[in-house]
Amino acid sequence: LREHEEFTKVKNIAKIELGRYEIDTWYFSPFPPEYNDSPKLYFCEFCLNFMKRKEQLQRHMRKCDLKHPPGDEIYRSGTLSMFEVDGKKNKVYGQNLCYLAKLFLDHKTLYYDVDLFLFYVLCECDDRGCHMVGYFSKEKHSEESYNLACILTLPPYQRKGYGKFLIAFSYELSKKEGKVGTPERPLSDLGLLSYRGYWTRVLLEILKKHKSNISIKELSDMTAIKADDILSTLQSLDLIQYRKGQHVICADPKVLDRHLKAAGRGGLEVDVSKLIWTPYK
Ligand code: ACO
Ligand code: ZN
Repeated sequence: LREHEEFTKVKNIAKIELGRYEIDTWYFSPFPPEYNDSPKLYFCEFCLNFMKRKEQLQRHMRKCDLKHPPGDEIYRSGTLSMFEVDGKKNKVYGQNLCYLAKLFLDHKTLYYDVDLFLFYVLCECDDRGCHMVGYFSKEKHSEESYNLACILTLPPYQRKGYGKFLIAFSYELSKKEGKVGTPERPLSDLGLLSYRGYWTRVLLEILKKHKSNISIKELSDMTAIKADDILSTLQSLDLIQYRKGQHVICADPKVLDRHLKAAGRGGLEVDVSKLIWTPYK
């Protein structure tokens, strides 16, 4: 019940300013009470501290010496960089990021226990600094094989392929860990659309290459996508038959091509050779 109350709370902050954008918010976020009467919050785009007045932000920007998220840059390709932020080492940053993200995430409980999470922050970099585009969070240790807890692309950057990049990135981390992964449930509508698109494209491309002569287990080993997600994706595309107590993949090359076309653009590619990362110990 308490959770439900939290989900249905009325939106409290209508707008935020972040970097060069003014952004209309989508949902309630549990900012400390003294911020709740402000129509607009001003965020430092680098440390994500937030303020009630523009002048406070301007003063802050003169002394804030961050030009990118705190933590390690683990990926750089062209102007795109990924930073890994440990919630235990950067508690305030982690909390600020959660407050910000909740403004665009509906049915997610916010974890204040940011210690237990790593944050992967995607940035577009130029000579003024690294500007946050979106992020995903990941539990340091997940019992349920979750490889992603929350994912967000900030509204001004949505529908440009960054979401698919973040999803692909989460699976590249799982491959390096030698584990399969799945996103934490529930997924939002936009989350499900993005995952379905990613799964469909990745799986169909492999099926095409292997002329469908491949098992779900082999697909899972190659992609780090959990077998359940593979099954539900292929079922939704009507590519699974149930024979002699087993699920088998049945796909005509023409049907694959048709589905691939419908799956849309591939998005921004993750260049794995540019990922410098070892799993969290
Ligand atoms: N309308 C219709 N389809 C959409 C829309 C939309 N507004 N947005 C995304 N999609 C679908 C499309 O199929 C799109 O592919 P296409 O552009 O090739 O057609 C695909 O999703 C992914 O598009 P991207 O540009 O790669 O994704 P984006 O950068 O927009 O990020 C995300 C997707 C992260 C889900 C974003 O919409 C978002 O931040 N939403 C708010 C927060 C949220 O709901 N997060 C997921 C919660 S679930 C969880 O965290 C585990
Ligand atoms: Zn700052």
